[in-house]
Amino acid sequence: MRVEIRYPRIADAVVYADAVNRSAEHVGRWNPVEPDALPDMVRRQGDTLRTFLIFDVEERGLVGTCNVSNIVRGRFRNASLGYNSYLPYNGTGRMTEGMRLVVDTAFRPETEGGLGLHRLEINVQPENGPSIAMAKRLGFRLEGYSPRMLFLQNAWRDHERYALTVEEWPGAGAGSRS
Ligand SMILES: CC(C)(COP(=O)(O)OP(=O)(O)OC[C@H]1O[C@@H](n2cnc3c(N)ncnc32)[C@H](O)[C@@H]1OP(=O)(O)O)[C@@H](O)C(=O)NCCC(=O)NCCS
Repeated sequence: MRVEIRYPRIADAVVYADAVNRSAEHVGRWNPVEPDALPDMVRRQGDTLRTFLIFDVEERGLVGTCNVSNIVRGRFRNASLGYNSYLPYNGTGRMTEGMRLVVDTAFRPETEGGLGLHRLEINVQPENGPSIAMAKRLGFRLEGYSPRMLFLQNAWRDHERYALTVEEWPGAGAGSRS
């Protein structure tokens, strides 16, 4: 494993801002670019949102961020994944490794330090090839199409909905690397 994951802390604010600023061009094509968002993100952590920062183990650089958001428990135990990877790690496979750790943690029982979720969704704009490739690499299935689902870049954008349930998850170490 070239990466590790952990929850954000206020002390990550500068590293986070640098990474987002460096990556503004490719992140900004699909997601808001918010270099100063980390302190607020830390404050919002709780029952409905858990954020994971993905770090390169050797260099300690920030590879990416994944939000496990809209967490609903009860009979649903469901959440949505939203993610960005940062330069210089973009396209090196590290983000995929980190996302496997995030999915693994999201599905792991709460008694074992996980989030105890049963189903995860990834909603992607149909033109976002790298993100669709990520969803498929992780084993997510295309479930459907959601017109005008999210307000991004000043318009309500259609999204493809990918999903995975814990029964389908082989574990973070399984599957091909590319
Ligand atoms: C979507 C996004 C997170 C993907 O991140 P990424 O940095 O490309 O992820 P990875 O590096 O793990 O991607 C693997 C790619 O690197 C390649 N790669 C290079 N070296 C690799 C290695 N050693 N191991 C595995 N893959 C490797 C893979 O072949 C793969 O390429 P492919 O997508 O053409 O198949 C990133 O493009 C991004 O931040 N996009 C902007 C924001 C965004 O769209 N977010 C999602 C909204 S739904």
